[in-house]
Amino acid sequence: MNSICYLDNNGTTQVAPEVLEAMLPFYTQHWGNASSAHRFCRPVKEALHQARVQIASLINAEPEEIVFTGCGTESNNTAIHSALRRDASKKHVITTTVEHSANRKYGQFLQRQGYDVTFLPVEEDGSLDICLLNDMIREDTAIVSIMWANNETGVIFPIEEVAAICQSKEVSFHTDAIQAAGKVPIDVQSTQIDFLSLSAHKIYAPKGVGALYVRKGTPYSSYIFGGGQESGRRAGTENVAGIVGFGRAAQMALEDSGRSGRLEALRNHMEHFILTQIPQTSRNGCKSNRLPNTSNIAFDGVEGEALLLKLDRLGICASSGSACTTGSLEPSHVLLAMGVPTRRALSSIRFSLGHYSTEADVDFLLKHLPDIVTELKGQTPAPKPSETLTQSH
Ligand SMILES: Cc1ncc(COP(=O)(O)O)c(C=O)c1O
Repeated sequence: MNSICYLDNNGTTQVAPEVLEAMLPFYTQHWGNASSAHRFCRPVKEALHQARVQIASLINAEPEEIVFTGCGTESNNTAIHSALRRDASKKHVITTTVEHSANRKYGQFLQRQGYDVTFLPVEEDGSLDICLLNDMIREDTAIVSIMWANNETGVIFPIEEVAAICQSKEVSFHTDAIQAAGKVPIDVQSTQIDFLSLSAHKIYAPKGVGALYVRKGTPYSSYIFGGGQESGRRAGTENVAGIVGFGRAAQMALEDSGRSGRLEALRNHMEHFILTQIPQTSRNGCKSNRLPNTSNIAFDGVEGEALLLKLDRLGICASSGSACTTGSLEPSHVLLAMGVPTRRALSSIRFSLGHYSTEADVDFLLKHLPDIVTELKGQTPAPKPSETLTQSH
């Protein structure tokens, strides 16, 4: 087992050695500015182009349709901003209640600016009723922004169907594919997506690099103003080494598309053990339409944060999906939106496996988890009868 048992790959991933190797020359040798005219910068320009080709290939796009950004959050914000700038009379945005804060908080910001934002609800298993989407699209809807896969539960939304609805109603469609990329196939040629967000640090490349796919012909408006980088679409000197790493990681994800199968088998083994061997556990989110690496489990009667702390002491890294704001624990908005009671939401843990997760990692977790849960249950006050949670595997 690795000294750290890292089961938080939806949070971020380790930079792959191959990615680091590809990046290093762009710190030591080719450290020029891609926008400079001199010969020293030629390899830098070429490397940016190559990365654009590699990232475009991952989603079957054209290289010119890729705009590099500073992170996935910026990509999401840019897509919505761009659609709203297109027609000032269109002030309605549709998204969901389970988006990452990169979308949710931007939606809330837009509401404060006087925009009308519809947050579509989800079902108990985290899935989306797309009939609702159909009903909600209006004359003044500027954009629909719906994530491809949920970062907390792994639940995958029917993006092809969503895209088809948007196309039939002539509304722009953006998808946050930040968790989906590298885990499930993405093909923007066969799906009518106008904007698609990616983030390097979820696919074994460094943090602080993102990309936005913008379909050719889609009206676009910059979010950041300044220099003419990215063909005038995103100002600011490119993070060349990071982008080179992103490109290499995208290439590896495409070449090694079989890695999802191994992850899924390992995840299923882990989840089956937990649900069958540890009493009062249940899965949050549907079983089948899910990312292959993600498992979100409620441990009824246990405080999730306490469980994470105990795991942390053993070197096991997982995540609660709850936001710790100013010292107070908040239950996950995703789980609450699925109708999970607050108490159960606070008892839920996300395990997300990655390319470097091993059987030994999972065995180590499973060796310790039952005892930790038993120990913590002894410390948690028994729930009042009205609060007793039912077990639903
Ligand atoms: C679904 C989703 N969207 C957006 C983001 C934000 O990406 P970044 O950290 O690159 O800003 C994340 C990161 O956790 C995510 O999981």
